[in-house]
Amino acid sequence: MVSLTADMSPLHPDRNLALELVRATEAAAIRSVPFIGRGQKELADGAAVDAMRAFLSTVNFDGVIVIGEGEKDNAPMLFNGEHVGTGRGPQCDIAVDPIDGTTLTAEGRNNALSVLAVADRGAMLDASSVFYMDKIVTGPAGVGVVDIRLPVAENVHRLAKALGKPVDEMVVSVLNRPRHARLIEEIRASGAGTRLMSDGDVAGGINAARHNARTDMCVGIGGSPEGIVTACAIKALGGHIQGRLWPRDDEEKQRGIDAGLKLDDHVYEADEMVTGKNTIFVATGVTNGELVAGVRREGDYVYTESVVLRGASGTLRRISSEHLTSKWL
Ligand code: FBP
Repeated sequence: MVSLTADMSPLHPDRNLALELVRATEAAAIRSVPFIGRGQKELADGAAVDAMRAFLSTVNFDGVIVIGEGEKDNAPMLFNGEHVGTGRGPQCDIAVDPIDGTTLTAEGRNNALSVLAVADRGAMLDASSVFYMDKIVTGPAGVGVVDIRLPVAENVHRLAKALGKPVDEMVVSVLNRPRHARLIEEIRASGAGTRLMSDGDVAGGINAARHNARTDMCVGIGGSPEGIVTACAIKALGGHIQGRLWPRDDEEKQRGIDAGLKLDDHVYEADEMVTGKNTIFVATGVTNGELVAGVRREGDYVYTESVVLRGASGTLRRISSEHLTSKWL
């Protein structure tokens, strides 16, 4: 039962903040328009970062970026530890991914999103010292049913049973990478189909957890920050997420240990990735996808589609906006 009063305290990120934050992902998506399909991923990311930072500075909260984006490929950053917001209002942890799918954006391919997640201060795991995380994401049917420690075929069969559907109707999404060759074979051998993603496992995870979506499960190794961001969304969807850090070498493993992370196959459950229920996840489409349509410029207007997910209320809210082109581009 949802409490209608529990989140009224200004100490926590509340429903008003959730709606305020969507302006930042809308801005990032709109500013990326000139770069969509133009082959310049750093420029697209830079424009999105600048727009997101500018909007975040106007929001009434005291935010600290726990998960920034950008170490990879020397991309521009909203860096870890950076303070954002007016400094008034709730103290929050923030994870930003101004564009998840910079290559998708540069190539004009589907599934790029501008993403922002917020939780209570101290709630988010800073997993950034280990770049990759092995993950499994499902909708509510997978809770207490699938487990990342099990072979993928067993998870497929367990989830199919829980969903009451034949295994050959199951679809599992996974990033199309050489490191997943065996995993992809195992999924197909289980009887399920695969949905191979060229990038963008935040959208992949959310789509697997969403009611009435076309995939049932998202598995495999992607970015650790993306794992934490996804966990914020999964809390609102009542789904299942687990992650295991996947260091590329001993040096990275040591960096993770020094940062206080748990390695050696430790399984991070959703509550360890982000504690509590006061999570907010917002995303605006940069390019078209199953979750939201991409930003679209047509003459005098720019159209955006966004989702806002709140852990406290278990709501996925869709927001369509029309923006005057002359104010933006
Ligand atoms: P970027 O937008 O930062 O390039 O991330 C895209 C992405 O596909 C993520 O969604 C995913 O978690 C990660 O990259 C996977 O990393 P890699 O491309 O190195 O396999």
